[in-house]
Amino acid sequence: MIDNLVIPNHIGIIMDGNGRWAKMRGLSRSAGHREGANTLKKLCLYAESIGLKYLSVYAFSTENFKRNKVEVDFLMNLFVDMFKKEFQEIMDRQVKVVFSGHRDPLPKKVLDAMDEITFKTKNNTSTVLNVCLNYGGQSEILDMTKKIVKQVQDGSLSLDDINLDTISSNLYQDLPPLDLVIRTSGELRLSNFMLYQASYAEFYFPKILFPDFLENEFMEAIVEFNKRTRKFGGNV
Ligand code: FPP
Repeated sequence: MIDNLVIPNHIGIIMDGNGRWAKMRGLSRSAGHREGANTLKKLCLYAESIGLKYLSVYAFSTENFKRNKVEVDFLMNLFVDMFKKEFQEIMDRQVKVVFSGHRDPLPKKVLDAMDEITFKTKNNTSTVLNVCLNYGGQSEILDMTKKIVKQVQDGSLSLDDINLDTISSNLYQDLPPLDLVIRTSGELRLSNFMLYQASYAEFYFPKILFPDFLENEFMEAIVEFNKRTRKFGGNV
């Protein structure tokens, strides 16, 4: 709680608009992604400073591999740079970094950097940063289903014992539900982002492009969240 505001437990951000931000300035799409990465770092530090427990970000969807090779290669190198160097400060702030998504076909250098930051931050005790990288929500549900069926088949789980906790604990990461999902740039879509976890989330769609979505805009989203009445299907 700050200034009488309730800080949501889990916020998700669909970081959209890097390309448009760059185009408006006559810059390359890569420059937009680099600025987006700087913004993400600032938001992580801010999230930690206001006591946010879980922050999930959509860094790269499985479908983003359809983009041209120059852009995909740039993003992969940017992820490595960020995980290796730029996140040092985040580590100092005790942020724990986890990943959601498929490892295949991510390049080895990205996987190594992901493994390193996961390992180095695994005992950190402040904000959990869940980076959705090569991620798709439908695939996550499919993979969870297969994992559970396998346990039923090998006898380690009985059909009657399957409940909502079984589902959560067989997703890529066992995270609490999303309370607030923010998509920047004015698009009004979920685009396969954390479908199961977003079931009862509040949605916020600022028109602002992601590189410009800084601390004040993030707080604005939390202020808006505080104006919503959450009913979870009841009639509060
Ligand atoms: C969507 O904007 C953005 C992405 C596909 C990449 C997001 C990546 C970052 C913010 C870099 C930092 C990430 C980490 C984890 C270090 P877009 O390219 O679709 O923008 P457009 O719709 O304006 O073209």
